[in-house]
Amino acid sequence: MSHTLTDQQHDEARQGEAFAPFAEDPNQYDRHFFIESYGCQMNFADSEIVASILQEQGFGATRQLEKADLILLNTCSIREKAEQTVRKRLTEFKKLKKVRKGLLVGVLGCMAERLKSKFLEEEKLVDLVVGPDAYRTLPQLIEEAAGGQKAVNVLLSREETYADIAPVRLDSNGVSAFVSIMRGCNNMCAFCVVPFTRGRERSRDHRSILAECQDLFDNGYREVTLLGQNVDSYHFSPEADQAPVNFAQLLEQVARISPLLRVRFSTSHPKDITDEVLTTMAKYTNICRYIHLPVQSGSTRILQLMNRTYTREWYKAKVDRIREILPDCGISSDIIAGFCTETEEDHRDTLDIMRYSGYDYGYMFFYSERPGTLAHRRYVDDIPLDIKKQRLQEIVAVQYELSLTSNQQDVGKEFEVLIEGDSKRDEQDWMGRTSQNKVVVFPKSKAGLKAGDYVRIKIDQCTKATLMGRLVE
Ligand code: 5AD
Ligand code: SF4
Repeated sequence: MSHTLTDQQHDEARQGEAFAPFAEDPNQYDRHFFIESYGCQMNFADSEIVASILQEQGFGATRQLEKADLILLNTCSIREKAEQTVRKRLTEFKKLKKVRKGLLVGVLGCMAERLKSKFLEEEKLVDLVVGPDAYRTLPQLIEEAAGGQKAVNVLLSREETYADIAPVRLDSNGVSAFVSIMRGCNNMCAFCVVPFTRGRERSRDHRSILAECQDLFDNGYREVTLLGQNVDSYHFSPEADQAPVNFAQLLEQVARISPLLRVRFSTSHPKDITDEVLTTMAKYTNICRYIHLPVQSGSTRILQLMNRTYTREWYKAKVDRIREILPDCGISSDIIAGFCTETEEDHRDTLDIMRYSGYDYGYMFFYSERPGTLAHRRYVDDIPLDIKKQRLQEIVAVQYELSLTSNQQDVGKEFEVLIEGDSKRDEQDWMGRTSQNKVVVFPKSKAGLKAGDYVRIKIDQCTKATLMGRLVE
């Protein structure tokens, strides 16, 4: 995936991933499910939990729509565009249902709650609607739907973490995997629908996280990404007589599984990331030098309206602290253009903080009002679309420049690269990543290498999206 994505490119890239082929399960199943995921990494991780629950019920995964008895869309509500895409896809499946008797179509994930009555009752687009905390009830819901009933469960939970469910890896390269460490979010960023679609924050038992990571390592995986909406507020209290575990401690425990296991995490909230996390990263070279630290806006006034609870100065100080403790750390960001009342001056503050932070990557969006959010209830979405788009273009242009500069600084240097597989462009080349999460492509000059191996690569050239290099013997 390219390093700098506009809103639309981002959604398209995600969808691209949704269609990526994965190995058909060699076991024989009578019934098959087809699942497509949209949105954030958390949704992709959830689909792997759903796959596990379905497999228990005798459903095998398939990538061939024609083979499916059950089609599931794991949906995202974060921006309006994502919702439109899902609606389009559901309309296509409705046609399939006409010719295929018994085919069931379901909506999972973040759109479930908001659109249950619409999809199920009014438009009859789907047979079942299941929210992110209700996947354990899928077997009953499938039964009900097959019997012609409306099958809905969108209840959110304060406890559910699916800790005991071993995910079935879908679309896996066998090298890197996502591990969900918490669910929900207690922050109330004014623009964000997540606290409403995914509910309250809760942390998964660290023992089950460790067991999953160990198991991945034993099965040849070499990289885990610990996932949560706000990983720095991870907090698990085991039994009363045992000490609670915070994110820095969890990170350390996972890093100690093996020096050959790379550990990544996402997402960090600038208000919550601690020195303890940064110094833990510094202590273990296998904790990757990469922090996704969404700024959202560079203007203190807008940040306040967004309820991000930090100022521009606080954010800059965080970046300084990261550079101080981890001089070689990559930093990326999420940025929203055209939030309510944003002036040209606020916008320039955003461009300025991007340059200050020197982001290696950026995920950039224009503001899209979401029903039920604080911003929807309290503010007017008053920036015209053409201005939002123009500001977004300026943000994208700055990010392209920053990504290119960052990559140019790597030319001539050597990096440890974890091989992920063939380069997409040319099978004669390997593709891997540096600790800083940069994509590296290099020729297959040496026999015997395979995905999951670590190699040293000297960088000779770059574009804004890729480093190109050669093996150092
Ligand atoms: N409009 C535009 N972008 C949004 N994001 C979240 N909600 C919205 C919205 N309503 C972006 C934020 C967040 C990322 C996952 O999506 O930048 O960090
Ligand atoms: Fe949304 Fe803010 Fe929570 Fe991220 S931290 S999921 S942007 S409310």
